[in-house]
Amino acid sequence: MRLLVTGGAGFIGSHFVRKALAQGAEVVNLDLLTYAGGLDTMEDFLEHPNHRFVKGDIRDRDLVMELMKDVDSVVHFAAETHVDRSILEGGEFVLTDVYGTYVLLEAARRTGNIKRFLHISTDEVYGPIEEGSFREGDPLNPSSPYAASKAGADRLAFAFHRTYGLPVVIVRPSNNYGPYQHPEKAIPLFITNLLEGKKIPLYGTGENIREWVFVEDCVEGLWLLLQKAQVGGCYNLSSNFELSNLELAHKILEIMGMDEAWIEFVKDRPGHDIRYSVDSSRIRSLGWRPRVGFEAGLKKTVEWYKTHRDWWEKRKSGDFQQYYKKVYGGSL
Ligand code: NAD
Ligand code: DAU
Repeated sequence: MRLLVTGGAGFIGSHFVRKALAQGAEVVNLDLLTYAGGLDTMEDFLEHPNHRFVKGDIRDRDLVMELMKDVDSVVHFAAETHVDRSILEGGEFVLTDVYGTYVLLEAARRTGNIKRFLHISTDEVYGPIEEGSFREGDPLNPSSPYAASKAGADRLAFAFHRTYGLPVVIVRPSNNYGPYQHPEKAIPLFITNLLEGKKIPLYGTGENIREWVFVEDCVEGLWLLLQKAQVGGCYNLSSNFELSNLELAHKILEIMGMDEAWIEFVKDRPGHDIRYSVDSSRIRSLGWRPRVGFEAGLKKTVEWYKTHRDWWEKRKSGDFQQYYKKVYGGSL
């Protein structure tokens, strides 16, 4: 199998590349190394003989066309991914997540040799749900500029299947967590703030609910979909393990032996979706299920951040300080 992976220097993408190489695939890894990607995320596989890293932009049509000629499948992770950044300024989200996806789809269509195009969408495309869980056929109702851009990309991918017969498979995972996640995201931010002697900034009342899946479980599901998914199919991917953000903060504090005085309630995220929930029966019917329980996964994650200070400290310095001030104000 010869794969073009986009965004393989980021969080989920790097775990996926690790898995694909272990399975004997050849991987061309196209990543722009934005603030969210890093060579230090790929240290253990960067020089692997079956891995070719290309620093470049998914919006670069010539480059994408050239890389597409040498592969038989595409796994597309590259995106601007952080909701709070999309609320500050959404332009890059539209350009990367929507137009970048278009460039990849168009190149895949033109080469005519792509057997699978696995498009990584998100559960956020459905928008919030107070009770029950979304199924794959439910309408999309995204809230943030990030989610709206991902919804555009998701539907473009589907349109390329319907219109041109491109063998697209769409997957909509819920919130991932685990090693190598950028410290702008909730779980690593909470852990690393505590490690720095700072508080956990909880938006609003902390009642918002998210469904958490350990990144290695997610990657197992993606690998399975690459082999077994129905072409043109769409698959939710979640653990069904949900927690309010307040419960999540308490779990992290418990693991780190700290008390709730380390929580600070801060101004809510604008348009903050109250709850996400997706029904994953379709991918489960192919044989996937999550294997890592939340307690075990969270302990592993806390341990990883404790032992990889160099990795996250540099990501929390420089520009991140300005970003942090914009989102959280001066109080933290
Ligand atoms: P991430 O932010 O950690 O990594 C994104 C990667 O894409 C980075 O390495 C970055 O350098 C690269 N990139 C950005 N713009 C690029 C461009 N123009 N050209 C080439 N590379 C570019 O992201 P993640 O959290 O690993 O998410 C990966 C994918 O999964 C995204 O599509 C995201 O929407 C989706 N997703 C993420 C989660 C989650 O919880 N993290 C859940 C569901 C879906
Ligand atoms: O659901 C899948 C999505 O999960 C992915 O598509 C996105 O790329 C990924 O970033 C993530 O989006 P969320 O907005 O759910 O994740 P985030 O880690 O930013 O926040 C998780 C929850 O924690 C959310 O309800 C907001 C809250 N939160 C977050 C931060 C950063 C806080 O209370 N305080 C914070 O400082």
